Amino acid sequence: MLDKKQIGKYKAYLKDNLSKKRYNHSINVAGAALELARKYGADADKAYIAGLLHDCAKELDITKQLEIALTSPLDVSDIEKNATPLYHAIAGSELVKTEFGITDKEIIHAIRYHTVACGNMPKLSQIVYLADLISEDRDYKDVKKMRKYADQSLEKAMYEALKFSITDSVSKGNAIPECTLEAYNDFVRIMKNT
Ligand SMILES: [Fe+2]
Ligand SMILES: [Fe+2]
Repeated sequence: MLDKKQIGKYKAYLKDNLSKKRYNHSINVAGAALELARKYGADADKAYIAGLLHDCAKELDITKQLEIALTSPLDVSDIEKNATPLYHAIAGSELVKTEFGITDKEIIHAIRYHTVACGNMPKLSQIVYLADLISEDRDYKDVKKMRKYADQSLEKAMYEALKFSITDSVSKGNAIPECTLEAYNDFVRIMKNT
């Protein structure tokens, strides 16, 4: 069961440190992650917490984000070090430890990889990655399609999401982190075998 007092603390922190829009996004991602966890048999409480806190470092000063990110014991690739929009996920996974004393490895991992994904991605991390893409506040062109995939199959949705994300990065001339390619290759393999 979720500790309501604890959740209240997380929400208060987010209210103080995020814009109204991003606070709302965080609440929506938590809700979407909870639903996906129930649907696909993952820990719903952990999904809710990771979804709620996934962007907790997003509005910190960018130099502060990098400073915190570099304390992460999880690998930070050179490509990630050169992509400022990716810092907040790594910084966030550290911040939840120092700010809230969260030690759960699955929650920390889900926050860490919510932007780039990774090979052998745990189910909870997949759920938070997708919840971030299909949350109620999202309104990009293919969001309805993505919601449909997420409703049909976790693997199909991950495959489509990674294909979309990689294609988009390539079209902008951006480098692709190796962990993203590893994730994509995993889901290509899964889709071919189903
Ligand atoms: Fe994010
Ligand atoms: Fe997000």
